Amino acid sequence: MKQQLETIRQEALAALSGAADQQELENLRVKYLGKKGELTAVLKQMGKLSAEERPIMGQVANAVRAEIEETLEKAKTALAAKAMEERLKAEAIDVTIPGEEVALGHQHPMNMVLQEIKDMFVGMGYQVVDGPEVELASYNFTRLNIEDGHPSRDRSDTFYFTDDDSVLLRTQTSPMQIRYMENHKPPLCMLAPGRVFRKDEADATHSPMFHQIEGLVVDENITMGDLKGALTTVMRKIYGEDSVMRFRPHHFPFTEPSCEMDMQCHKCHGTGEVDGQVCSTCHGEGWIELLGAGMVHPYVLENCGIDPEKYSGFAFGMGLERMAMGRLRINDLRLIFDNDVRFLSQF
Ligand code: DAH
Repeated sequence: MKQQLETIRQEALAALSGAADQQELENLRVKYLGKKGELTAVLKQMGKLSAEERPIMGQVANAVRAEIEETLEKAKTALAAKAMEERLKAEAIDVTIPGEEVALGHQHPMNMVLQEIKDMFVGMGYQVVDGPEVELASYNFTRLNIEDGHPSRDRSDTFYFTDDDSVLLRTQTSPMQIRYMENHKPPLCMLAPGRVFRKDEADATHSPMFHQIEGLVVDENITMGDLKGALTTVMRKIYGEDSVMRFRPHHFPFTEPSCEMDMQCHKCHGTGEVDGQVCSTCHGEGWIELLGAGMVHPYVLENCGIDPEKYSGFAFGMGLERMAMGRLRINDLRLIFDNDVRFLSQF
């Protein structure tokens, strides 16, 4: 019997040391220590032994069991540690590998220019306001001194909602002058950027929807000098300190006198020609129109309950797309609206 126990011990220890995983260990445990295991089978034969032999064999059997159990535990721990190490290796994250790049968008170029322009006017004390795109004809035209029958009120130019032509998509941001003066008394300084709509076919310089930025300043003793000073300052900041500007007489019903502001063409420097060819940027004009402006018409002030004897003001309206095209050297208006990423990502 002692021989049997020794054989079991040797076999068990050898098998345990060669076990590859936890499952195999468990099988070995059942094989040697289980109720129907080899060791138990030998122990069952103890009854056949003499009274002297029994306790001695008992001791040997217990020692063998203890040794197998201990070796089993050690093998379990060793295998678990090995498995953990392998898992750590397999799941290791190399934190030095560069991450996957996430493509980030950015502001639309037109909004970049708008932000620049807003910043400048805010710095000069202007309040930036927003207004409705669906507008009343009285704000868009009548109270701006644009009377019934004026060509700009024509149905071929303006999107109307109603048969009596009283509700429309605003054709300019100038109605914001009226809305602002209804609610604010001078001194006032306002900037109103926003969408405007006209029945125009889309081409390189036209779109049925575009953006304007309206400005209005009303106080005592405001003169054309203030208008020229404010607008020249801003345009020089946008287009460069050395850019050349001119103010040219014009007509708008809601300003008197009225003017347009031009910038000398940066490409042909006012000559209208580049290498003997007509300049493509200004179409040979030598000048690029920037905006319309003027001294607020006394009727318009009166329409808003402001005394034109005491107060005067200036107003201006510029096309945002035109400003962005000049600022960023974009040559086709449609690019601004197409939202082609190949174009947008250049800015
Ligand atoms: N609203 C005019 C337009 O769309 C532009 C304009 C001209 C605005 C003169 C003004 C102004 O405020 O004083 O053509």
